[in-house]
Amino acid sequence: MTSFDERAREWDSDEHIATATAVAKAIRSAEKVQQRGLTNVRVADLDLLGDPGPPPRGFDLVISQLMLHHVSDTAALLRATNEALVPGGRIAMADLDAEDGTFHDPAAEGIHHRGFPRETLRSLAADAGFEDIHLGDATAIPRNGRTYPLFLLTARKPDAGRRQGEAAQPGL
Ligand SMILES: C[S@@+](CC[C@H](N)C(=O)[O-])C[C@H]1O[C@@H](n2cnc3c(N)ncnc32)[C@H](O)[C@@H]1O
Repeated sequence: MTSFDERAREWDSDEHIATATAVAKAIRSAEKVQQRGLTNVRVADLDLLGDPGPPPRGFDLVISQLMLHHVSDTAALLRATNEALVPGGRIAMADLDAEDGTFHDPAAEGIHHRGFPRETLRSLAADAGFEDIHLGDATAIPRNGRTYPLFLLTARKPDAGRRQGEAAQPGL
């Protein structure tokens, strides 16, 4: 069991629920998930970079919140996520904008990034094969008298038969 699994038992504080609610609202408005009325949502618990065996495939949507800064190799994570998606599949990932390291307790473990500059993520997402890349505001977390903004990264894996950067057919 990982330390994240242990911490998950007591994770649902008012602050964490408020953040998740705000990010979910941002994802719904960005991805039109609500309008499509998705009912076949399935949750997969996996580590895209660390799990043994063949990498997972066939996902329509990968969402995450405050996960990216816990993974050291962001480029590899985005590449693995792209490979896990079906053609035309999407990501919606919320995380901290670049911060000065005060968001976490100094004793916190597994912090690999002090947030992210948005343009760095845009570039990494493009390099990983995504298109239709957007970086917008997700929410902000008040903590210790300060406010830490969160971005929402959304992007799309190109359709089958179409390479990154190639224009989509009109109407698609
Ligand atoms: C700070 S918690 C965020 C939990 C929750 N999403 C939230 O925002 O309240 C960090 C999350 O990143 C996940 N995580 C860390 N490294 C990961 C990895 N390599 N693959 C998948 N998830 C990972 C942990 O399992 C944990 O759920």
